Amino acid sequence: MFSKNRGMERIMKQPYAFDVVEQNKELAIKKFGKEYIIDFGIGDPSDPTPEEIREKCKKAVDERKDSGYPQTLGHFEFREAVCKWIKKRFNVSLSENDIIATYGAKYACFHIPLCFTNPNNNDFVLIPNPGYPPYTEGTLLANAEPYYLNLTEDNNFEPNVEEIEKDVVKKSKIIFVNSPHSPTGRIYKKEKLKEIVDFCIDNEIILVSDECYSELYFSEKSMSILNIKNAEDCAIVLNSLSKRSMMTGYAVGFYASKNEDLLKTFKVLQQKSVQGVATFIQDAAAFAYLEDKHVEKMRNEYKKRVEIMVEALRSIGCEVSMPEGTFYIWTKTPKNKNPLEFSRELLLEKGINSTPGNLISKEFKGKNPGKDYVRFAMVQSIEKTKEAAERILELKR
Ligand SMILES: Cc1ncc(COP(=O)(O)O)c(C=O)c1O
Repeated sequence: MFSKNRGMERIMKQPYAFDVVEQNKELAIKKFGKEYIIDFGIGDPSDPTPEEIREKCKKAVDERKDSGYPQTLGHFEFREAVCKWIKKRFNVSLSENDIIATYGAKYACFHIPLCFTNPNNNDFVLIPNPGYPPYTEGTLLANAEPYYLNLTEDNNFEPNVEEIEKDVVKKSKIIFVNSPHSPTGRIYKKEKLKEIVDFCIDNEIILVSDECYSELYFSEKSMSILNIKNAEDCAIVLNSLSKRSMMTGYAVGFYASKNEDLLKTFKVLQQKSVQGVATFIQDAAAFAYLEDKHVEKMRNEYKKRVEIMVEALRSIGCEVSMPEGTFYIWTKTPKNKNPLEFSRELLLEKGINSTPGNLISKEFKGKNPGKDYVRFAMVQSIEKTKEAAERILELKR
């Protein structure tokens, strides 16, 4: 065996949560055939990228035929479009120099701990639990320590910074916040965001606000962290077109900060490690940020899908709230069933795939906040969602 970076070894020791689900899926495919399976497992939109965005991209391939390497930090037109969008959507003024084009939010959140913590220094990174796995994996690669903020019914699925021990706070360098939150669907109100900003300013902690679901809200619009007073001193905003514009295949988004240090550090990381996002993808992305219609259409569509599924789940005894945003449903299992058991039953009896909550949450302080939950990613069409709802209702009979 060749030697490895210790952080890499730590990542490789993490159990791969989806092995069990994949095995069950194989069994279900054998039983029903692939076509029958309705897959609410992974949060990857099954809807196509809107035609006008694809057209823009195709045209840009020709227009940019002499482009050479793309600019590492993103070209001006992309950064200008992002600034216009942020002004229009959040009424926040940023300069084009405050923006870095990224390969989506995953690339950025994974590398942030590497930029801002020191190995073997007992630096902590504060991570919502359940939460997006690269927050943890990037922390492990950096050889920093994850500290989880359990999101449960008792705290209304909101991170509570007050509960963190003082000695942990002292050694904390970063907190990841994600609103609208995957998978609980919660959108944090101004007071909660302000509490986190104040905590970060008081303790010199970097606030990474992952806003990649910002456009998927079902009643009140979500806020950006930059709407909160003083956030510009400590915050990084991550955004992405993956979900709002069905552009997972394009892998494009941005990193924004008004803090010189936070901006410069990531600029250097990106300049030293990668070429920029492909020029034609940046052109399509600039267009997508400034085009609202497709976003509004999908928001309404996701809302309908979520409503159909929530009703079906309630009818079989699941305790579940309507998510405020994202496209996920985070439901309690019926009759206190183990989530692995419930998810397996749905898949092997009804051909419906979901993700057991305990597989996407960490056991922390003796508790796994996902242990009674199952996640549905509502990425299938209304027709398929209705079909799934009907199959679920059959479980009642
Ligand atoms: C909370 C969260 N952040 C980031 C991402 C990834 O975003 P991107 O596709 O832009 O890399 C996801 C994808 O599932 C996510 O759920």
